Amino acid sequence: MNENLKTRFCGIEFKNPVIVPAGVHGRDGDTMKDVSLSGVAGICTKTIVSQPARDVLPCFSAVSSGMVNAVFGSDKTGEYWFGEGIKRAKEGESLVIANLAGFTPEEAAALSGKAEKAGADMIVLPTHCPHMGEILMAMFPGMDFQEPKLTNLDPMKESVRLMKREVSIPVVVKLSGTFSHITSEWASGVKDAGADGIASSDALGPALSIDVRTGEPALGGPRGVGGLTGPAIMPITLRMVLEIAMTIDLPIIGVGGVRSAEDVLQYIMAGATLVGVCTAGHVHGIKRYTKIIDDLEKLIKDLGASSPKDLRGLTIKRIEERKNSGKQAVTSPVPPVVDTDRCIACGRCETVCAYGSAGVEDVSTIDQATCIGCGLCVSVCPKRALSQDYYS
Ligand SMILES: Cc1cc2nc3c(=O)[nH]c(=O)nc-3n(C[C@H](O)[C@H](O)[C@H](O)COP(=O)(O)O)c2cc1C
Repeated sequence: MNENLKTRFCGIEFKNPVIVPAGVHGRDGDTMKDVSLSGVAGICTKTIVSQPARDVLPCFSAVSSGMVNAVFGSDKTGEYWFGEGIKRAKEGESLVIANLAGFTPEEAAALSGKAEKAGADMIVLPTHCPHMGEILMAMFPGMDFQEPKLTNLDPMKESVRLMKREVSIPVVVKLSGTFSHITSEWASGVKDAGADGIASSDALGPALSIDVRTGEPALGGPRGVGGLTGPAIMPITLRMVLEIAMTIDLPIIGVGGVRSAEDVLQYIMAGATLVGVCTAGHVHGIKRYTKIIDDLEKLIKDLGASSPKDLRGLTIKRIEERKNSGKQAVTSPVPPVVDTDRCIACGRCETVCAYGSAGVEDVSTIDQATCIGCGLCVSVCPKRALSQDYYS
């Protein structure tokens, strides 16, 4: 175990900042125990619900840069989780986080009390699943359940209030990706409700993929819509984390699209303390968790830091510096500089340059007269041979 990666979150020590948020790797206690061998610091259960049900099928489909899913909560009963599941998961090497939801705040509070008694180290309360309304209606015909409105924070606030009365372990609220345009309102609401921490985010959507051989939606359910997860959502969920960190002072779990140690570090720089990796573990297998943790240790060292904490919130500091130095709207071009030792003349810069300014001879060349300094070539260079300095 790397001592430098140790991270405190809501008063609990995590052996590193990487956790597995709710997904298939939290489907039962034995799976969680196995996944814990990957080295992750914590694993969430699949959402424990009072009325487990079988998912509409198919429930997963890969899409470019991620996947869509139409899953409901855990198909295991509370009896299983509180009698056996959490106990089995606790035999592993990771902290056990009970992700749970009730159809009412009272139900959520009752489930959290049972989870604590069963040995859970922390509770996560998810908010809206983007696809869940219509799928729930189809799964439970006749159910009188009004789909919650995105702007109605009351059920979450009441759930947190009752849960905090019921348990002494930390209660973390997990925002939905559908709150992307109202992130700060939700962040403030979570803080007002008295939660100990905030996670962001769950899937975005509702999302759709179509099988062109048949015209069928790729997923089951009334319209075949699901929640979009994986790298496709990261630029949005990362911005949500930054916004939360700039709005409230609760500790944050950054979730959404993480595939690599660099992605983990982006969340930490945006202000997260822990970072969740879900789809990447599903698509690439649990070895991906181990690689991310190993690479993270090296990356932090390469950046001259001694722990994730040293880098937490660095981007907020940089944003502040832009403001203070009057560099919020730089418009004079800085053409990229080519590091000729690194350049492999692959031609990516030439391909993406919409201004005809990048070319390749023995190495890349940038025409200083026509380059507008847009930065696209810098961002696609596979060897990081191009650089621009607008801000330091
Ligand atoms: C297959 C699958 C199942 C999921 N199940 C749940 C769930 O039961 N409860 C929940 O809060 N989030 C669930 N999620 C959302 C993830 O916990 C996570 O918030 C989301 O996938 C974004 O992270 P990622 O891009 O790393 O996957 C699920 C995601 C996937 C891919």
